[in-house]
Amino acid sequence: SPSDPGLVERARAAKEALGDRVFILGHHYQRDEVIQFADVTGDSFKLARDAAARPAAEFIVFCGVHFMAESADILTSDDQQVILPDMAAGCSMADMANINQVDDAWAQLEEAGIASRTVPVTYMNSTAAIKAFCGEHGGVVCTSSNAEVALHWAFDQVGGVEGDGKVLFLPDQHLGRNTAVLQLGLSLDDCIVWDPRKPLGGNTPEAVEAARMILWKGHCSVHGRFRKAHIDRFREQIPGINVLVHPECANDVVTAADMVGSTEYIIKALDAAEPGSSWVIGTELNLVRRLANAHPDKDVHFLEDTVCFCSTMNRIDLPHLVWALESLVAGDVPNVIVVDDETQRLAKIALDRMLALPA
Ligand code: 13P
Ligand code: SF4
Repeated sequence: SPSDPGLVERARAAKEALGDRVFILGHHYQRDEVIQFADVTGDSFKLARDAAARPAAEFIVFCGVHFMAESADILTSDDQQVILPDMAAGCSMADMANINQVDDAWAQLEEAGIASRTVPVTYMNSTAAIKAFCGEHGGVVCTSSNAEVALHWAFDQVGGVEGDGKVLFLPDQHLGRNTAVLQLGLSLDDCIVWDPRKPLGGNTPEAVEAARMILWKGHCSVHGRFRKAHIDRFREQIPGINVLVHPECANDVVTAADMVGSTEYIIKALDAAEPGSSWVIGTELNLVRRLANAHPDKDVHFLEDTVCFCSTMNRIDLPHLVWALESLVAGDVPNVIVVDDETQRLAKIALDRMLALPA
């Protein structure tokens, strides 16, 4: 069970036995029972940056999902091993873009004479192969905390936001649209959705030619459940409530909110909030519950009526963490994330471009 004192004690003992040989990274959506053992917690950007800073540990145990552990493997030195306590901790959004589909989409854009004026930008929530695609084709990785600067950088490669160059944004249509419309001043009409199952993504040649943002048809199943109607109801019930959501939510939800940002941004916003203020938060439930517990002087609500965990983040539970740590103590290295050399080399180009963006 989550509070099993035997497991807590075993995790503590194994971590202590490993000492400096292990470094544990924890994403903000992780369970309380797991996050308590993290040496560093963060949003996707902070965790990538901290992995890149190469703590002098033999093993990095990544409490998060597969694409994050892959990115950590790409950014750490070759003699460091990245371990994901449960290999089934994937991400349904990352699974929505596979490299064959993306290669095929790019070939269609080349055929239409558009690829040379297009920069691919992938959200961190994508496979290493897609990050490698972006590295190879002059593109960049972004996270929810730097999507605006990353998109500016990308448009600057093809004549600026005011010009007629394009961005192919993978795989989260919502982060791409929200950033383009709310932060770059583009319009909803500048955005088209690319459905990989249809020729030209389901668009006419004219529509693709006119578009500025070509948005891959992907989304987050957790954030996709928040509705504008939920916001309307909270505003009616609690006048003056502050609405804070993650940019993976749909555009009408983000537009109706007061504040939008990454998990790290959400945490800082609550830290800075006035005692007695009311908040409703649209992001994963482990984080919202933790924030409610950490701020008893504030009125903190969850923007949904039903339970809304990220099921793959939740796969990393205390039994899996204990198993991973005790295996390391016993001399076995379980669940090592291995990205092949060529994919790593190209993906690192796109990740390094992100890490070099102005903060
Ligand atoms: P951030 O922590 O970067 O905001 O990302 C949220 C998310 O969905 C990670 O999977
Ligand atoms: Fe993927 Fe959404 Fe879960 Fe993040 S919250 S890991 S985007 S499914």
